[in-house]
Amino acid sequence: MSELNKIALQIISNGKGILAADESNGTMTKRLEAVNIKSTKENRLSFREILFSSDGMKDCIGGVILYDETINQISSSGKSIPDLISISGAIPGIKVDIGTKDLANSPKEKITEGLDGLRDRLKKYYALGARFTKWRGVYSIGEKYPSELAISSNAHALARYSALVQESGMVPIIEPEVLMDGNHSAEVCLNKTSEVIKKCFEELLLHKVDLSGIILKPNMILPGNLSEKISSEEVSIKTLECLKNSVPNEVPGIAFLSGGQSEIEATENLNLINKNNNTNFIMTYSYGRALQQSALKVWSKDIKNIEATQTTFNHRAKMCTLAAQGNWSNKLENK
Ligand code: 13P
Repeated sequence: MSELNKIALQIISNGKGILAADESNGTMTKRLEAVNIKSTKENRLSFREILFSSDGMKDCIGGVILYDETINQISSSGKSIPDLISISGAIPGIKVDIGTKDLANSPKEKITEGLDGLRDRLKKYYALGARFTKWRGVYSIGEKYPSELAISSNAHALARYSALVQESGMVPIIEPEVLMDGNHSAEVCLNKTSEVIKKCFEELLLHKVDLSGIILKPNMILPGNLSEKISSEEVSIKTLECLKNSVPNEVPGIAFLSGGQSEIEATENLNLINKNNNTNFIMTYSYGRALQQSALKVWSKDIKNIEATQTTFNHRAKMCTLAAQGNWSNKLENK
């Protein structure tokens, strides 16, 4: 078993999942201002530190994705943030893309940037304690989208990123996110997502990436947010069909993004994906909003109330971990 495969499995085995706390300062400001909290460096650290030092980390969270600001911060106890995460048994990770820009010659689409100087930045992050990384490519569904250009240029960037990350001794999380915005059907999401993922693996192979040392972070197969919802059972069947047909067997695991689903939807869908799992892949979560939303609401009411914030986060993490084992139920959710 390669070192990278060991790290990947340590992050996602036994129902553990990933806490995606890597919101850029721009995104974090939106999240904090939505609950009337000022987005200062101190407040961003304070909320995240409360999550990273909660009990739920030990049993449920195998990895935490950080943003550049956070990985360099010192917690109130004097420990570095990566040390605080490691003490709980989770592995610190880092988002290394630097966001999206309009794609030249298809300006309604996006290309993710951050390859320039990446090799040197990776060395710095490794020294700070990171053992895995994240890069997100983003694709919209529309009549002409995602275009072949967006699919192939983002796949190329994800592959170059992955090769550099493995060279530096870390596990790349490969996140091709097909957005849920629009009035398309789940069938269209299935076809587009399959095309996007297949192209990613074509490029990963070309760039000689060791597929046993990656984690794929895809969207679930859902209808657009302006279309009628389908059942969780249908979501799970379509998601499994997509991944079975587009992900090579060597990949150890898949950690879904929540992508705008509610906390309960993201949990219920993951639970059924695991109940119906007819693949060899570990299927778990790498949620941002679906792990943090309720906790952030509680914290915003009284930022001194650490206990209530942690209780809320612990419950969410526990529910997601039950779902990653196919053992979640509505009854446990409301207990
Ligand atoms: P959400 O779960 O909120 O979609 O965030 C996951 C993530 O890491 C997006 O890049």
